Amino acid sequence: MENVRRLQYLEAMGIDVWLPTTANPIASPEPITETLIDTWASLQAEVAQCTRCGLSATRTQTVFGSGHLQADWLIIGEAPGQHEDEQGQPFVGNAGLLLTEMLRAIGLSREQVYITNILKCRPPNNRDPHANEVASCNGFLLRQMQLVQPKIILAVGRVAAQTLLSTDAPLSKLRGKVHAFNHTPVVVVYHPAYLLRSLPEKRKAWQDLVFALKTIKTTGENE
Ligand code: URA
Repeated sequence: MENVRRLQYLEAMGIDVWLPTTANPIASPEPITETLIDTWASLQAEVAQCTRCGLSATRTQTVFGSGHLQADWLIIGEAPGQHEDEQGQPFVGNAGLLLTEMLRAIGLSREQVYITNILKCRPPNNRDPHANEVASCNGFLLRQMQLVQPKIILAVGRVAAQTLLSTDAPLSKLRGKVHAFNHTPVVVVYHPAYLLRSLPEKRKAWQDLVFALKTIKTTGENE
């Protein structure tokens, strides 16, 4: 993205521009073996052919996930929107651009993290996922988690947070705490689509990211 647009996003979030000059030392995953790549490929092929729920009838294509296959950070959003459905990649619309900038603000590139969604298919008109759709897709996400083995999970937005944490608590109650999913720390952050609509929350989003960064550093120190 060109610099001017990037800086506008950062300014909208109330973030002082700060870009690291060296690679992030906490994101240096091990090399990926060929067997692991085969496993990823077969999982992705399975997802691409999935007809477990009705969304398979309305999608353009599945949106599997993208990024580093053994990333320290696993970023989980809600579901593909229109742009993601068209391009087959997660978080590529306006919310995606803001997510990219939010990550960059804490020194992470999209190539260093793995990004996916609770649902791999777009719900019509971007409605909230239905329980049966989440249940149908759940196994794919669990297998992605087992393959990535992240050090931290960032639950992006209410739907991802409530689904991962099996709660209906509001996002305001879930943020600012370290939760766990199968022993992996989970930190909840505001969804960038929400931030684009509600700029007063931008500083809270920044606090959430800083909190996540602190959490992974603390976890790393305790290992
Ligand atoms: N919103 C999400 O939650 N995920 C995407 O991939 C795009 C928008």
